[in-house]
Amino acid sequence: MQRIMAKIGIFDSGYGGLTILEAIRRELPQYDYLYLGDNARAPYGTHSFDVIYRYTLQAVKYLFSQDCALVILACNTASAKALRTIQQKDLPLLRSVSPEDGLSVKRSVFCQSEGRSLNVLGVIRPTVEAVPSITKTGHIGILATPATVSSESYVLELQKQPLSPSLVGRVGVGLSISQQACPLWVPLIENGEHLTPGADYFVDLYLRQILEKDPLIDTLILGCTHYPLLLPKISQWIRNNGKRFAASDIQVISQGYLEAKSLADYLRRHPEYESQLSKTTSAPSISPGSSSSSSSSSSPGSSSSSSSSSSSSSSSSPISSISSSSSSSSSSSSSPMGSCHYLTTENADRFSQSASLFLSSPVQAEHIDLE
Ligand code: DGL
Repeated sequence: MQRIMAKIGIFDSGYGGLTILEAIRRELPQYDYLYLGDNARAPYGTHSFDVIYRYTLQAVKYLFSQDCALVILACNTASAKALRTIQQKDLPLLRSVSPEDGLSVKRSVFCQSEGRSLNVLGVIRPTVEAVPSITKTGHIGILATPATVSSESYVLELQKQPLSPSLVGRVGVGLSISQQACPLWVPLIENGEHLTPGADYFVDLYLRQILEKDPLIDTLILGCTHYPLLLPKISQWIRNNGKRFAASDIQVISQGYLEAKSLADYLRRHPEYESQLSKTTSAPSISPGSSSSSSSSSSPGSSSSSSSSSSSSSSSSPISSISSSSSSSSSSSSSPMGSCHYLTTENADRFSQSASLFLSSPVQAEHIDLE
């Protein structure tokens, strides 16, 4: 029997996960990817635990059914609200499900019978682990969706982090953490209005609120994968207003680079996936509905108080220009590039059009239903 090779699934409520996908493909270009955006039901960030968990589980099952062996929840809201339950309750069932249990998991059952490993990973821990080495004041700000903020996931994870020696004794027993929900940022981005002059008001609204809560914040975590798309506006705001606050140099952490490094590390520590994941080892190829172009990544901390060039953005490709300041990944256009197929629960043409603005090359998406 021919063995079906597995892909890496990347899930987000909408376009935000594209920021993670780009960075992962930069770091690990050889693998084949399947991106799923549940745009029709975004934003997730204002939904209850039950709804976010149900939607996320549907997406995870769908990606497994499409021969993904690893699913990355490239969505903080899903990571905060659904990851633990899926890992503890659903994954053991999905790994041991029998063929008669239903069509939606049939393929993964088939794969399982071949001894395939399945896992779901999130974005919060890789982000949090980078914080102690970035902050100098120990004062951290988290910008996230209302659901992520209310889950307290970032606070709980940050409290587990060991303080760097230079911080011990300066910030008491732990980091000083402030959170700010930014419910209007995701709708701005999903509607493609994040770089318009109208977005300035909403950027000012939340950045002012969090820095008024704690003016010593020197590290701002963009705790939503959509937010890096606002980085040009956020950087501009900090350049114009940051001096009013005590920390003169505010680092903005966006997650793509961290998640990419973390996934590379995970694959090194779990060689069982290496034999299961499909890879391209020769020249780049392009197939309909797939993208195999190279992309760019961002580094964990983007300093926003210095020159404007670090985040100046061309309106056609905000992610690559945001990231261009400090890319440290070594992949080049001559590296073998695996394929990436894009799925969305909304109109496929609309997704393709919008996603192409966020990525460095055009993509073609396919519509699917998750219910
Ligand atoms: N991009 C997602 C996140 O990282 C959620 C955005 C939303 O759908 O509210 O939290």
